[in-house]
Amino acid sequence: MKTDVLLGLQWGDEGKGKIVDVLAPHYDVIARFQGGPNAGHTLEFNGIKHVLHTIPSGIFHEKKINLIGNGVVLDPAIFKKEVDALLKMGVDVRRNLRISRKAHLILPTHRILDAASEAQKGKEKIGSTLKGIGPAYMDKTGRNGLRVGDIESTDFETRYRSLVDKHIRMLAHFQFDYDLKVYESVWFEGIETMRKMNLVDGEYEINRLLDQGMKVLAEGAQGSLLDIDFGSYPFVTSSNTITAGTCSGLGISPHRIGEVFGIFKAYCTRVGSGPFPTELNDDTGEWIRKNGNEFGATTGRPRRTGWLDIPLLKYSIMLNGVTKLMMMKSDVLSGIDHLKICTSYTLNDNDLTTIPYDIVYNTPLPVYTEANGWKENLTDVATEARFPQELKSYIRFIEEKTGVPVHVVSVGPDRKQTIITKKLF
Ligand code: GDP
Ligand code: IMO
Ligand code: MG
Repeated sequence: MKTDVLLGLQWGDEGKGKIVDVLAPHYDVIARFQGGPNAGHTLEFNGIKHVLHTIPSGIFHEKKINLIGNGVVLDPAIFKKEVDALLKMGVDVRRNLRISRKAHLILPTHRILDAASEAQKGKEKIGSTLKGIGPAYMDKTGRNGLRVGDIESTDFETRYRSLVDKHIRMLAHFQFDYDLKVYESVWFEGIETMRKMNLVDGEYEINRLLDQGMKVLAEGAQGSLLDIDFGSYPFVTSSNTITAGTCSGLGISPHRIGEVFGIFKAYCTRVGSGPFPTELNDDTGEWIRKNGNEFGATTGRPRRTGWLDIPLLKYSIMLNGVTKLMMMKSDVLSGIDHLKICTSYTLNDNDLTTIPYDIVYNTPLPVYTEANGWKENLTDVATEARFPQELKSYIRFIEEKTGVPVHVVSVGPDRKQTIITKKLF
């Protein structure tokens, strides 16, 4: 069996949690392969709204296996909160969740280092979610990190202290006040919660499940434009958010990748700093933010908003090998008379055919095509036949420009507000 991948093609928050939840019935296993609690994946069904940070979005489906892969970084304190909330809702987390022993731990001092580093950068800050993601991945690649499997060893606390002491020496280089004790007590409570979980050798586990004929859906976090290699560096996250990250973040070979579902919003949003060529700093941008409720699911920060950007979408499609597109939040654009779509860029009066290396310092100017907007409220539209003509044209335009078909159109946050316009499986 193959692993299908579902990931965001923009700057995150495309609606991955919603769609993973919608697709989960078709799969046996849902697996997170990178990122950590910087993610906030929102699910809405039966009048419930729930945000997941570390736990895969298949967790509400009984009898589905949810796996946190080796590529993820996990904060035990945040993890415990998530588990407690799910247990309260009657979700059998202990039975349905497995965690790779090779996933790395975010320590309290990683969070403090993240905050100290951002404070020192001042105006140049990344706009991190301050969950300790960067410092935790630095310790992973620097070969200093602690892994989930380490909590099973008798000298775990000694190893923890040794790494924390190193972090404290690093923190002395910053002028930054912190209270480690506050974080530490809840962190160790989280470690106790984790000790009761089903810890596995994730790479063996997933390959065994695939060999048994199980279908796996890999759930991306963040978005392709926040990828550590291909995003607008340094305004990125610290992991590979693209399809390639699935192989290294779960321990599966590229031969085992099947469909790649690429999710994008009908417009663009970005939270945090960094270039955003089609950003709208005007009333329309504010209107989209309000209408789309564009406030971060993890930090509550207002998201920056802008028009759909085809050159960046094509870049993400290329990097990921997207086979099927899914367009989210189409309902949010209802009522805008004239929509704009960026179809190419110019820089210093030259037409660009690729995304420039130094996009951070030389942000290109978007060239727009205008499209007629749709007036109809889409939130109770249940079939494609009821789509306004203008929406159909908008979708056709995207398909023509990208060369990839749109299979799903989302018209609201609820599970039910999902229209399958072309066969998915
Ligand atoms: P994720 O990080 O990709 O899972 O996305 P987030 O949960 O951070 O942000 C997406 C937001 O949009 C959430 O509040 C969702 O409930 C909401 N959402 C998802 N799809 C739609 C849609 O089609 N229309 C509207 N109006 N909201 C949506
Ligand atoms: P989901 O999975 C949107 C952004 C932050 C910041 C940059 C680096 O919900 O789509 P980090 O905390 O990783 O050091 O932050 O990346 N960012 C996200 N933006 N959605 C996310 O996740 C994000 N995770 C990180 O705002 O600009
Ligand atoms: Mg999110």
